[in-house]
Amino acid sequence: MLETPMNRPALPTEIARRRTFAIISHPDAGKTTLTEKFLLFGGAIQMAGQVRAKGEARRTRSDFMKLEQDRGISVSASAMSFDFDKYRFNLVDTPGHSDFSEDTYRTLTAVDAAIMVIDGAKGVESQTRKLFEVCRLRDLPILTFCNKMDRESRDTFEIIDEIQENLAIDVAPASWPIGMGRDFIGAYDLLHDRLEIMDRADRNKVAESIAITGLDDPKLAEHVPAEQLAKLRDELEMARELLPAFDRQAFLEGHMTPIWFGSAINSFGVKELMRGIGDYGPEPQPQKAAEREILPEESKVTGFVFKVQANMDPKHRDRVAFVRLASGHFARGMKLLHVRSKKPMAVSNPVLFLAADRELAEEAWAGDIIGIPNHGQLRIGDALTEGEALRFTGIPSFAPELLQTVRAGDPMKAKHLEKALMQFAEEGAAKVFKPAIGSGFIVGVVGALQFDVLASRIEIEYSLPVRFESSQFTSARWVTGPKADVEKFVNANKGHIANDHDGDIVYLTRLQWDIDRIIRDHPSLKLSATKEMM
Ligand code: G4P
Repeated sequence: MLETPMNRPALPTEIARRRTFAIISHPDAGKTTLTEKFLLFGGAIQMAGQVRAKGEARRTRSDFMKLEQDRGISVSASAMSFDFDKYRFNLVDTPGHSDFSEDTYRTLTAVDAAIMVIDGAKGVESQTRKLFEVCRLRDLPILTFCNKMDRESRDTFEIIDEIQENLAIDVAPASWPIGMGRDFIGAYDLLHDRLEIMDRADRNKVAESIAITGLDDPKLAEHVPAEQLAKLRDELEMARELLPAFDRQAFLEGHMTPIWFGSAINSFGVKELMRGIGDYGPEPQPQKAAEREILPEESKVTGFVFKVQANMDPKHRDRVAFVRLASGHFARGMKLLHVRSKKPMAVSNPVLFLAADRELAEEAWAGDIIGIPNHGQLRIGDALTEGEALRFTGIPSFAPELLQTVRAGDPMKAKHLEKALMQFAEEGAAKVFKPAIGSGFIVGVVGALQFDVLASRIEIEYSLPVRFESSQFTSARWVTGPKADVEKFVNANKGHIANDHDGDIVYLTRLQWDIDRIIRDHPSLKLSATKEMM
């Protein structure tokens, strides 16, 4: 493990005010609605409702894909920036598909924290748990937002218990709901001793905030009906006895999550959550590279590509590589070293994603996400630096677990199909293998839904109907080793050999037995289920 030096100086103000995070949740918990309110309070959109289309479309898969087609950036971009209080927030979008998606996992390598949204009636759901586990692998600090408190929800203690037990993390209430469902009137802010009263008449209006001196303040009775107040006092007394108090260090280390109770659709609890990320949330964190740890305050610019999105503008076949800046102060026009190709790259038209628009980024700091339009040079995992040869680690690569053969509906369009597949391989949306013998391509993914997503995108972006058919193979292994040994192996196993989109050699089989045999008979060869991103 790399150690961060203890005696680091305070971060430059511009870096220290950045908060780069993602939202994780199970579909329908309210991620879109919460995002929308963030953007509203961040001044990035004028009124709520603009993001809705996405949430609705998401529910029907085909609509979502159509929407992806004319992804004219806007809120469907992969990263959005906005200001709130003295902070600059960079919200990185996690894809909405409910299936396992590599993209989602990679996204989480680009952020310093995550907000976990749960539905107050449903608690911790399957997708939330999966994503939480990924965050835990990276020790990401997590803030929890328990949404939909305006509906019948579970008992507050029950919700907290479920999170603690299900996810094995300490939960510290940052706010405590007063009533629920129809009787939900607001929350008690435990971190600032404030009463937040919800305005049911206007969904976009922020709660009225009343400072009080504590639970004995007579002002409480002016705003909270007697019965609810008695219950609140009881519950808070119990909570203070049974639940841990918020400990910032434990939160930053990923052992404790503060929880806010609110209602995104009613804008309730959202600003408190934003202040929570701002005031307690992590500053841009050091990033790991194979050679050393990169500190955000280093004066030289470094960054890594965590996502490539193609066809963002259907009129231009451009790609945008999303780069998380790991260190330094970036200025437009800078020449950076593209470490993989060892070539300099003038970054003259980087983009910052402000919710409604994409804007040319004149400058950016460690922690920011910038988009770099390119023609395919930039790939997931690539490093950009001011000259140092760095290899960022921690961007996961996944073993393709499902293989299918793909064919163009029109055999004359095989070339088009190849082009489309190569693009998706570069985006990291699928692994693409061209068998040494025979025609067609084999596509490898980690979740079955990815085949549908691919088929739809190929049809939409390339006007090319395709068919996926089951393949005779079920496993893929990248083969490396001394050149002569690899060549000999390839020649003796032609029927099982394919090349991936980089031309690297892959062995395909349906039998684990084959793999075991090769490992035994060819000690000089290495068979890997995943391929390094670089
Ligand atoms: P997602 O991105 O996590 O999938 O969730 P999304 O925000 O799209 O919200 C899912 C549904 O939950 C939507 O309802 C949304 O309006 C509703 N919702 C979000 N926050 C709250 C809340 O605080 N309280 C209540 N009661 N509902 C909330 P829908 O019926 O699917 O869409 P719509 O008809 O309301 O637009």
